[in-house]
Amino acid sequence: MIDSNIKHKLLSDAPVIAPSMLKCDFGNLHREVELLDATQAPVLHWDVMDGHFVPNLSYGAMLIERVRPLTDAFFDAHLMISNPEQYVDDYIKAGCDSITVHIEALPEPQGLLDHLNQAGVLPGLAVSPQTPLEKIEPYLDSCGLVLVMSVEPGFGGQSFIKTSPEKIRQLKSMISADTILSVDGGIDTSTIGEAAQAGANYFVVGSAIFSQSDYSTAVSELARIARDQTASLT
Ligand code: DX5
Ligand code: ZN
Repeated sequence: MIDSNIKHKLLSDAPVIAPSMLKCDFGNLHREVELLDATQAPVLHWDVMDGHFVPNLSYGAMLIERVRPLTDAFFDAHLMISNPEQYVDDYIKAGCDSITVHIEALPEPQGLLDHLNQAGVLPGLAVSPQTPLEKIEPYLDSCGLVLVMSVEPGFGGQSFIKTSPEKIRQLKSMISADTILSVDGGIDTSTIGEAAQAGANYFVVGSAIFSQSDYSTAVSELARIARDQTASLT
């Protein structure tokens, strides 16, 4: 079963900035991991794309498994793949701490969420921009993490979809206080505040970290803005 300490540890680190490895320098992967370890970010977010569920191909479990021994960071896998139930055990074996699948790829995910929970992995469900929240509503009690896509899945570097905060706000009202609410796509210093204000506490960030020369400063600045906006809610 999932160790509830994992979730509580992450929530105590909130707002969490989760660097999206899709945008890192793959030619210097070990160095990138070392640089990220030196930031405040406790997580690495792995965007897995299969060229079928999304029109782009990235990397898979073999690569993640090779990086696993290099860091103690929490490994958060975001599977943008068809038939995730066929491959999920590879990602468990690779050492992922949380695994998120798309409701569009697996419309009845209860069995997979239970399987992840039993394997001690934090189960996550993601919704693409066009998908209504009603589709994930029946499964929310089985999720440790829910992820709102604020761009169409498939590519880094896209612009934040402006209606995303409303979706985050609605989802926040549907989940328990200890469910992690993640937002993914187009998060930078100009958009993270509104996502935080809407209720997100976990922010996947690619371009706005990897386009900067100093990852630590980029992560701290994003966390500071998110924290300020979260604080202004109370
Ligand atoms: C998109 C991925 C995101 C993305 C984030 O399909 O899930 O994680 O790479 O990158 P930016 O921050 O550049 O939008
Ligand atoms: Zn992602």
